Amino acid sequence: MFVLVFWNSGWLPLFQRMKGGFYGLRGRQLALITIFLLCITYFIWAWKKTPSVPSLMPPQTGLNLSSEILTSPSEEKTKDKQIQEAKTDVGAQGPTSLIGVQGDNKKSLELVSKQAEVDMAAPASSPHTSSPFRGKDDWNITIPIENQDCNHAKGKWVPDNNRPLYSGFGCKQWLSAMWACRLMQRTDFAYEKLRWQPKNCKMEEFEGSKFLRKMQDKTLAFVGDSLGRQQFQSLMCMITGGKERHDVIDVGKEYGLVQAHGDARPGGWAYQFPGTNTTILYYWSTSLCDVEPIDKTNTTTDYAMHLDRPPAFLRQFLHKFDVLVLNTGHHWNRGKLKANKWVMHVGGVRNTDRKLAMIWKAKNFAVHSIVNWVNSQLPRYPGLKAFYRTISPRHFVGGEWNTGGSCDNTTPMSVGKELSKDESSDQNAADAVKGTGVKLLDITAISQLRDEGHISGFRRNTKPGVQDCLHWCLPGVPDTWNEMLFAQI
Ligand SMILES: *[C@@H]1O[C@H](CO)[C@@H](O)[C@H](O)[C@H]1NC(C)=O
Ligand SMILES: *[C@@H]1O[C@H](CO)[C@@H](O)[C@H](O)[C@H]1NC(C)=O
Ligand SMILES: *[C@@H]1O[C@H](CO)[C@@H](O)[C@H](O)[C@H]1NC(C)=O
Ligand SMILES: *[C@@H]1O[C@H](CO)[C@@H](O)[C@H](O)[C@H]1NC(C)=O
Repeated sequence: MFVLVFWNSGWLPLFQRMKGGFYGLRGRQLALITIFLLCITYFIWAWKKTPSVPSLMPPQTGLNLSSEILTSPSEEKTKDKQIQEAKTDVGAQGPTSLIGVQGDNKKSLELVSKQAEVDMAAPASSPHTSSPFRGKDDWNITIPIENQDCNHAKGKWVPDNNRPLYSGFGCKQWLSAMWACRLMQRTDFAYEKLRWQPKNCKMEEFEGSKFLRKMQDKTLAFVGDSLGRQQFQSLMCMITGGKERHDVIDVGKEYGLVQAHGDARPGGWAYQFPGTNTTILYYWSTSLCDVEPIDKTNTTTDYAMHLDRPPAFLRQFLHKFDVLVLNTGHHWNRGKLKANKWVMHVGGVRNTDRKLAMIWKAKNFAVHSIVNWVNSQLPRYPGLKAFYRTISPRHFVGGEWNTGGSCDNTTPMSVGKELSKDESSDQNAADAVKGTGVKLLDITAISQLRDEGHISGFRRNTKPGVQDCLHWCLPGVPDTWNEMLFAQI
């Protein structure tokens, strides 16, 4: 091992030059050689005393070099090859290239690092694992893979040839054409091949079948705006691998989500996978407030937007959900409120508090309200795992969505840039869930790094000069939100 490191760290040429010099040794050269040999002797002595070879290697690869691991079981071979390809792609960031081993050695080290990852993931190595959720539940399939330090929002984006998890051409059944950038004029697709790698924990690899098993007889509901719908479509594609599934049952009716004839915008969708009776649902609520007509007999009526009352849909169906993912944010502006004819209400009456009427305050108040309400329901539904998903960042540069703002970068500039902040970049959301049983699905900072992942100006039918730097190309960034979600349920 020592020789290996020595051989590959640029000492070889120096050694060769010195060897050439043995024909005409001069005093200075002799002195150099002596110092050199002394150094080696010291190194070997120090090494023998404390054989800490692993400390010369990146920590991930330094755990176990026993011969048992060096022999690769044949069934591991294909997987191993994939891992190798993926790691080769990472280039200089891959652990092996730091050591510079080659051929079979490289392979064995890959296996070692894989073993190390498995070790990190093993329950035994993380005795402090505890469910972030309160109450007893029946989630026996959940394998605790997080240590206490695990914060999925810390880490970095790495290239991975095993991404994306579905095809943007193939997932026509679940994916809206307006978000499938493979169907647009976009020609660069590096943005599809990034994986989020948390720093202190291994995120359990997403697999559709594993997800469905975990969610057997359970219902997962996304409730929120179009970004929530993106996450819903992404999850449907991830579960099916983008393959057509004609056995999946439309159970929208059970939730009152019947698409009225001619209504282009149903309240949502619900689908059940027959093998495991897993239901995935999306309900469209842009504000997470209860919204109702002020005068039902008036066709041009205004709407009461109850800042402190959860949407009727949630009150009606919460008992049916096992996992709930809430989000809101981008509809909180004067323009949207006016267009929707929404009038803020608190305590059942029109809001007269001018401070609260400020949009950011009202939004914050509404987010706190919905989180507190869900939290208040948890004792009744102890199996419920509720998440509040933090704000999805926009990347308009040089203007707003309607004033020529753009996001033209196509190079994933984020690769390798490490996030290590403990606090969420969405402080309001973090404050709202603090002290409650609602968990933060913290996607803000990691998505902030992905300015190249938006629809941008690639959609064919958008007006010239108008870009979408809010919604994401799918497959893309919301897939990672679902991987993070999967790792936490
Ligand atoms: C290394 O692997 C061997 C064989 O699998 C095992 O017996 C040993 O406990 C391992 N050591 C460590 C430190 O993991
Ligand atoms: C979960 O495990 C506990 C203890 O092992 C067991 O009593 C319980 O029946 C299990 N629940 C389910 C749903 O399998
Ligand atoms: C799914 O639901 C159907 C009908 O409710 C039931 O017959 C079937 O046993 C369920 N399957 C599983 C795997 O729970
Ligand atoms: C209907 O509602 C609008 C908006 O609040 C209001 O301007 C109008 O006077 C109402 N019409 C009737 C008949 O009440």
